Order: sequence, then structure tokens, then C-alpha cells
Amino acid sequence: MNQRAIQTYVAAISVVALGALALVDWAPLLALSGRDQAGLILLILLGLVSESMSLRTASKSGSGTFTITFIPLLTSVLVFGPSTAAAFMVVAGSLGQFVVHRKPFLKGAFNVSQYLVATVLAGIAYSWMGGRAMMPDGGSAALLASLIPFVGYGVVFLLVNHAAVSGAIAISRGLTFQAVWGEVFGKWGSNIVYDLMVSPIAIAVAILYHELWLFGLITALMPLFFIRHSYFLNYKLIRANQDLLSALVKAIETRDPYTSGHSVRVSNLAGAIAREMNLGVRIVDRIEQSALLHDIGKIDAIYTEILRKPSSLSFEERQVIESHVTKGVDLLQSLSSVPAAVIADVRHHHERIDGRGYPDKLRGEEIPLGARIINVCDAIDAMLSDRPYRKALSIEATREELKKFAGIQFDETVVEMIVNSNVLEEHVANVRAPSVSSEVDPATEGADLPSPEARAPARRPKAARSGHGSAVPSTEGRA
Ligand SMILES: [Fe+2]
Repeated sequence: MNQRAIQTYVAAISVVALGALALVDWAPLLALSGRDQAGLILLILLGLVSESMSLRTASKSGSGTFTITFIPLLTSVLVFGPSTAAAFMVVAGSLGQFVVHRKPFLKGAFNVSQYLVATVLAGIAYSWMGGRAMMPDGGSAALLASLIPFVGYGVVFLLVNHAAVSGAIAISRGLTFQAVWGEVFGKWGSNIVYDLMVSPIAIAVAILYHELWLFGLITALMPLFFIRHSYFLNYKLIRANQDLLSALVKAIETRDPYTSGHSVRVSNLAGAIAREMNLGVRIVDRIEQSALLHDIGKIDAIYTEILRKPSSLSFEERQVIESHVTKGVDLLQSLSSVPAAVIADVRHHHERIDGRGYPDKLRGEEIPLGARIINVCDAIDAMLSDRPYRKALSIEATREELKKFAGIQFDETVVEMIVNSNVLEEHVANVRAPSVSSEVDPATEGADLPSPEARAPARRPKAARSGHGSAVPSTEGRA
């Protein structure tokens, strides 16, 4: 992490934020009636309540914050105009960062500053496009005239916000801006589109404020808090289930030192490959989960005994080993939280492209993509690991093996992507790197976006990724 570069970046964003504040025409804010001052204060309070209820989510593909603070901000633009929205951001942003979240100074300063820059630039775009305030006398005519500028406000705000966060992540993690932007922005801007799709709620809140004043704000926003709370409970339940399954996988693997860490390594590699293939965040998450659970069927001690055998396996023993995929499916089907796609990946991770795999002898694209990726990763982890009877293969030799069996055992597209990228080098570096602290940069760890779900990429510089000690032999190659 380049601490000096991050400090310079945060200082620069802060200076830009101060400059942006000078551009704001504060006259409409100063002209607010007592009635509308009360409305603005209530919006700020509701924004702070939203911040206090924000939910930080994390997965290996990224982290994000589920919050509805974007809605009160957009409401303030429609009702009072962009200068009041800037005031909303100064007060709610500062209190949210330093009082509600108790962020360290550098993180808080970065977040408040980049929100402010985004708010002011979005406000300029809004006014330039003809956007007006409903209060004091614009009413519904102003609202109708402001619908397109309102979309413009959201787009500019989110673009600036995502760009600022991407810059901070790129600097702190030693990545290029383009690489980070691609992940923060999402495929085809999916993350911004998602945020924009919830913004019409602000139009309804603005209409209710116009009609019912403070009661309108409470009526419109309180249900959203309850929805967020339900989401929070659901998220906690899903996380608890995932944690239990991860603990189960670790418990299975600790019975045999030769498989220790195998599933985590396969999961990390499968995620890296899926990201390299530009698959969506949710698909990457799902493939990582499938990869983590792919050998969960080996929970039965019978597999451990057979896999520990130093001699080659008999036909009967091989049949027993092959049953681990269906055993895994049986186990996962009893858990309602495991998606069907994950179960399918687990079932088919030993299918071969030529149809000679098991259990269903599927061919080519009949095999789910996740299973095809896991199949390659499984073999890679075996080849790159030391065995009692041989040393680990070199990366180059592993590449040659992959090419040799592409289209026969392995998916050709997956292999082509691997041999034309540095995924293998990164994987080996991560596996063999000593475990270091999961130090996170001060600016981006808390760089929450005030949007329903903003994602920051999980890619970390090689040195910061958690290592698993030296590579250990996997027994999977025998299965
Ligand atoms: Fe397996």
C-alpha cells in the first residue's frame, strides 16, 4: 500500500471538494422557509438513520454497502434543488462518516470529499439540463420538467463517485485505474444501472413531501427501513450458512494433510478465472461457492481411507471415490440456502468434455460452465502441488498439460483463457506467499458509496492476498 500516494490523493480530492463548494449557489438554501428547513432537517435525520442501518456486505468477488441514503439525497434535489442537496451532503455526509460510522480521519475525509464533489458536479449538470426545485413554488410542474435532469443528476453523481473510489483503490492496491474501474463500474455499467433503477423512489418521496410535508417523508421512507432490516436478517442467515459450510469443508480437509486447503485454493483460482472471463459478479460468487464445496461429498471417512492408500486403486475403490459427487449433491440438497446451480456444478465437476467423465457422462457445453471451470482448477491444483511420488509441475509444464488435454478433458475456452493470461503465475504466487496481515488501505476499506449496492473489487495485490503456506499435494487427481 502506498500510504503517501493515498494521502496525496485524499488531500487532492479534499481540495477539489472545497473548490466545488465555492461553485455552489447557496441563495436557494438561505431562502428556505421555516417549513422547508424542517423538511431538510428531517431528510438529514432520515439519511443518518439510513447510514446507521447500512449493511456492509463482503464476498470474495467484492464488497459493498447496502444503504438507502441515496434516496433522501435525491429527494432533496427534487424538492429543494441541488444547492440544498450539497448542504444535505455536507451535514449528513460528515455526521455519517465521523459520528455514525466513526471512520478514521483519512477514510472519513475521503468519503465526505468525494461525495461532495459528486454532489456538486451532479447539481451543475441538473441545473444545466433545466432541473428545478419543487419548493417553494415550483410544485408538480417543476417535478415534471426535472425528470430528465434528475436522471442526469444520478448518472453524473454515480460516475464521479465510482471514478473517485476506483482511483483510491487503484492507488492503494497498485492496480491500474482501468482495471479497477471495470470492476467497480460493472459489466456494461450494471452497477450504475442498478442504482439508477431504485432512484425513482425519490420521485414518490418528493411528491409525498409536497402533499403531506414531514408526514409524507416518514410515510415514504419508513417502509424502506423495514425492507432494509428484512434484507439484513436474510443476509445474516445466508452468511451464517456459508460460514458453516466453509467450516465443514475445512474440517473435512484437516483429516488429511494432503488435501488441506485444496478447496480454498480451487475456489480462489476458479474465481480468478471466472473474473478473467468477464463473468458477472454474481456468477463469479456462485462459481467460487461451487468450487469451495465441490468435494464436500468426501465428508464420509471411507473416502479418506481410500485416498490415503499409497498404492493404485482397484476398480471398486475407484467407484467408491467417484460416488463423492453424488454424496455431495445429497448433502447440499438438504440445505435450502444452496442454489441449484451450485449443486449442479458440484455434481458435474468430474465430467469431461469428451463425455468420458462421471457421473452422467455429459459432453462439451452440456456440462455447466462452473463445473467446467472447477474441473480445470482441480487438475491445476493437483499438477502444481507436490505429491509423495513426484514434485509439483512447473507452470510451463502445467500449461502444456492443459493444452494437451484441451477439448478432451478440459474446456477449450477456459484453457485458452488460462494459457493466454497470468492467472497461473498469480495463483502460484498467492499459494506460496507467506501469510501476511490482511492490511487494507485506509481510504477504500470504508469507501462506501451512498447507493443501494456498490461494489468494490476484491482483487488485491499479490503481497496482500492471504497465503495458505506452501502448496500441498491434492488427492483430487486420483478421483
Ligand atoms: Fe472431486
